Amino acid sequence: MLRRLLPAVGGGLSSADPDQDAWVAVAVTYQGLRALGVPEESLDSFPLAFRQGMAARAEVLGDVGESDPAHWEQPFGTPDVHIVASALSPDAARLEKALERVRAAYHDTAGVEVIWQQDIHQLPTGRTTFGFRDGISHPGIEGSGILGTNPQEAPLKAGEFILGYPDETGNLPPMPRPDVLGRNGTYLALRKVHTKVAAWRQYLTKNSSSPEEGALLAAKMVGRWPSGAPLTLSPDHDDAALGADPRRNNDFLYRKDDDRGFKCPAGAHIRRVNPRDADIIGVARLHRIIRRGTTYGPPLPEGVLEDDGADRGLVGVFIGAHLDRQFEFIKSEWVNDGNFIGYSGEKDPVAGHHDGTGSVTIPQRPVRRRLQNMPSFVVTRGGEYCFLPGLRALRWLCELDY
Ligand code: HEM
Repeated sequence: MLRRLLPAVGGGLSSADPDQDAWVAVAVTYQGLRALGVPEESLDSFPLAFRQGMAARAEVLGDVGESDPAHWEQPFGTPDVHIVASALSPDAARLEKALERVRAAYHDTAGVEVIWQQDIHQLPTGRTTFGFRDGISHPGIEGSGILGTNPQEAPLKAGEFILGYPDETGNLPPMPRPDVLGRNGTYLALRKVHTKVAAWRQYLTKNSSSPEEGALLAAKMVGRWPSGAPLTLSPDHDDAALGADPRRNNDFLYRKDDDRGFKCPAGAHIRRVNPRDADIIGVARLHRIIRRGTTYGPPLPEGVLEDDGADRGLVGVFIGAHLDRQFEFIKSEWVNDGNFIGYSGEKDPVAGHHDGTGSVTIPQRPVRRRLQNMPSFVVTRGGEYCFLPGLRALRWLCELDY
């Protein structure tokens, strides 16, 4: 199947031909590498988190309670998931063409079964299910030729994201053997997350005295307004022009203009998951990730406060060369803990795992506000750690005897 799929897998370059403007990518789980016949010595050279798989890392990731792998959608968390193929495109027609290429690879291939499929799409509003624009902030990578979205952030060393190159510590990231398999590869954490949109709206309504106050509260929790305009640059109201302007909507740091978090709280989602230059315990640049993702399911119509029972949320990948100090660190130290910003016990109001008793601090004058009884607004439906091989590594995998 991999051999058939190989010609469809793009090298990550944008094409000048709009008909080719669709991408197929292939990632392999630890169990998948084993099934492909990767030798034991090579399997053992992969990092522990990857070998254990995402479900086994539930405690670290905060996948407990409703998000516990025991409740995950099948086949997530089982040894049956081997290969993840994704097709992405700007429209349905081109998506269908890309999907055809994937289907042709597994059609009539003995021993290969499609065990999970998920349609994801951008909503007509261009926003995610909570009503906020996502996918604005991306790191720059040295040598890639692609600029990061924050002109004030120096690009990161390639080794933060791609195996075989020096990383921010000056070392080469640990790389699986043989060299041909590891080089130019990376890891990705695939996640399917259900969003409790009605609960989110109810919480905002209950904790505010007007729709305007509710909108400000939501923005304080996210760190951006629905348009994507950052609170650091527009603290009091949404600014659609700013949100839509790629030259301005991520052009900010925290230390100089918003050290104390009066504009964007230190506990807001975007400031937790990328504190930029803010005063924190630790070094933010060692915990950056590449994010790609979009929504699944229908949107909850505007203004509806009652849950309609529909499943809606996000499917996304978090990419980096170090699963442990990037995705896992962000989840355990920044999303589900508050020590690094001096808010011990507080969690991310958007992505954190809450049990209904926690609080979230919003600095304001004359006295700070403390949100109480925080519920969880997201539930992990499933996920997998995958290795994303480079093209030469994919070819090497195709040639293995199994
Ligand atoms: C689970 C539900 C989640 C929702 C609804 C959500 C939503 C958002 C939104 C609306 C933004 C602002 C857009 C942007 O700055 O590009 C954002 C940014 C971001 N999110 Fe999330 N997110 C979720 C989970 C996570 C998780 C689990 C992580 C990491 C493990 C994460 C990492 C990030 C990062 C790194 C940024 C960019 C921050 C920056 O550079 O300023 N998110 N997210």
